[in-house]
Amino acid sequence: MNELLTVRIAAKESATRDICALTLVAADGGALPDFSAGAHLDVHLPGGLVRQYSISNDPAETHRYVLGVLLDAKSRGGSRAVHEQLAPGQVLQVSAPKNHFPLAAHAGRSLLIAGGIGITPILAMARQLARDGSDFELHYAASSVERMAFRAEIEASTWAHAVYFHVGDTRLDVERLLAAQYAGVHVHVCGPKRLIDAVTDAAKRQGWPNEQIHHEFFAGAEPPAAGENRAFEIELARSGRVIPVLADQTAAEALIAAGVPLLTSCEQGVCGTCLTRVLAGAPEHRDLYLTPEEQAANDQFTPCCSRSCSERLVLDLA
Ligand code: FES
Repeated sequence: MNELLTVRIAAKESATRDICALTLVAADGGALPDFSAGAHLDVHLPGGLVRQYSISNDPAETHRYVLGVLLDAKSRGGSRAVHEQLAPGQVLQVSAPKNHFPLAAHAGRSLLIAGGIGITPILAMARQLARDGSDFELHYAASSVERMAFRAEIEASTWAHAVYFHVGDTRLDVERLLAAQYAGVHVHVCGPKRLIDAVTDAAKRQGWPNEQIHHEFFAGAEPPAAGENRAFEIELARSGRVIPVLADQTAAEALIAAGVPLLTSCEQGVCGTCLTRVLAGAPEHRDLYLTPEEQAANDQFTPCCSRSCSERLVLDLA
């Protein structure tokens, strides 16, 4: 278990009608652990929930983490707890910063694309690139101006000339944008799945190398609500062991409790860290990481949140 940091909410401001910006500082007033652009924190919320939120401020700052949190209308408690129960002065526990969405090193040029709340990690990236004097362009799309968090501070920044806002009808033409780039550009996209799919599909169609396409679903996304949990069994194909998964535990919890070395991070089906090969059985996918086609293939699943439709799942584990 990673050590947790104790932080205090120094400010809570409304960035849009449904997005709040939380500024966290060390509870003891000291410096916070470093973070890199694209990083997030696991935030431990009232009620025992743990949610991931991206850090939006400049990675050069060591005195604060600024998070953007969207109130999800379908919230299962995470974003609602942030919006309704957190207040300035309150003390919280968070993980040290983690980064599954780092800026590509040595990119000749970076193309940053953000949709809605996906601006949070992208904003840290823009700040980092601007400070390094690197070449970049940021495209920020949202359904309306009122829904664009951090717009005022972007417009007031020294790098505002590198930013293009796409609001409502003036839709971002992903196909054209990607086609206009030269070889060697790295694209980083964060936002709703449909935006990520549009960017990654267009990039692949246009022959972009995979290593130049980087994406992250917005941290804090909540996996689709699922039906009631049922118990099932996991068979480890390489050892033959059978591990029961109780209705009130996740497959990852059952595997880890049985001593199976399984890495997890977001624990809500967003990051793909726990992705595991399925050899037989039908997973009940509850993640946001796999595409619908990948889910339909039923040959991999995310045990941190997904379960099983069949009585038993056979996994490629020892
Ligand atoms: S730990 Fe992130 S998808 Fe499972």
